[in-house]
Amino acid sequence: MVNIAVLGYGTVGSGVVEVINTNHKSINKRAGDDIHIKYVLDLRDFPGDPVEDVLVHDYEVIANDPEVDIVVEVMGGIEPAYTFVKRALLSGKSVCTSNKALVAKHGPELMEIARERDINFLFEASCGGGIPIIRALNSSLTADEIDEITGILNGTTNYMLYKMSTEGCEFDTVLKEAQAKGYAEADPTADVEGYDACRKIAILSSLAYGRFLNYEDIYTEGIAKITPEDMEYAKELGMTIKLLATSRRVGDGSFYAMVAPFLLGQNSPLFSVNDVFNGVFVHGNVLGDAMFYGSGAGKLPTASAVVADVVDEAKHLHRNIMTNWSSHPLCLMDMKEVAGRFFVRVKGTTVDQVEAVFGKVEIVNLKQLPGEFAFITSHMKQGEYMDKISALGDSVLTMIRVKD
Ligand code: HSE
Repeated sequence: MVNIAVLGYGTVGSGVVEVINTNHKSINKRAGDDIHIKYVLDLRDFPGDPVEDVLVHDYEVIANDPEVDIVVEVMGGIEPAYTFVKRALLSGKSVCTSNKALVAKHGPELMEIARERDINFLFEASCGGGIPIIRALNSSLTADEIDEITGILNGTTNYMLYKMSTEGCEFDTVLKEAQAKGYAEADPTADVEGYDACRKIAILSSLAYGRFLNYEDIYTEGIAKITPEDMEYAKELGMTIKLLATSRRVGDGSFYAMVAPFLLGQNSPLFSVNDVFNGVFVHGNVLGDAMFYGSGAGKLPTASAVVADVVDEAKHLHRNIMTNWSSHPLCLMDMKEVAGRFFVRVKGTTVDQVEAVFGKVEIVNLKQLPGEFAFITSHMKQGEYMDKISALGDSVLTMIRVKD
């Protein structure tokens, strides 16, 4: 028997218990052992819930029980999650977690402790919900030098942008819907401002490039400024707007990473990743293109990924599963050096004035928005764009990057 303790009986924690109970037989068969939930830790009581029988309020019960083999951390946040996880690993218990904030901040240290003790610290559910992208980067794409990861990594904002685009919904209304469906973080600012996607691309990039990308180094912009009018322009161009989290190797050993809304054309494999779905595009030097797609948030998809880690850890109770992630830092290039095309909406200026600054540009007019127009620049470094756009002063309404 493999005994597990689930820390947190919220959306994901209750999902983990549900998944283990629903698929008990097949999970045990795959693990080669009986997975038994010995404890669930939560400060709250759940009268009438079957979990009552194994509910504890004090972590000491779990920490001091040598029969607990695997700790499942699904509380979220840094503390007390970090203290509990570190303590579990130091006492020889494997840990799996859905907590991207914890992995992005303390991943290298926690992985090192697990490695030293021949146990495991796994975090499949921390990125892409139910999509097995971490396992793919760790175990499948090992023949490649990865040179790009671009993902729609936040289900809440993807759901919001999709509803804004297809139904013309208001920002606040769709945010409430996403929260009600259990997609959003406890504080949805993390979704809307791109912080959640930022931590996820930091984790994926660290695994893909084998060095630690500090999420604090990643340029991050959210979707709070995206309006229904921007969506109208996107439609006119045959494009859509998505919040992308991306990292790329440029030339020999330089990298950049960012999270920002992008205009995407129909030729992009991420164009049709709609609703709460996530998609991760990976380019490898020998593989070429690969796309991973699936349910990116919500109780059961996330729980499915957590339980897959439990199964993996049960199969490797005293053997560390290697990861290609060192504590050596991954340094990013200056954002001013990152090149791309820029979509800009302007009011109170003319095409001639714009072209005097940027040269020939692609112009977009919308009948329903008289008195303004938009243009798309040619390919240029961001530093050059910033110098040029300052010449247009207050006439600039919005800028959105274009995904090439
Ligand atoms: N709030 C996150 C999202 C949950 O919307 O993607 C899954 O990490």
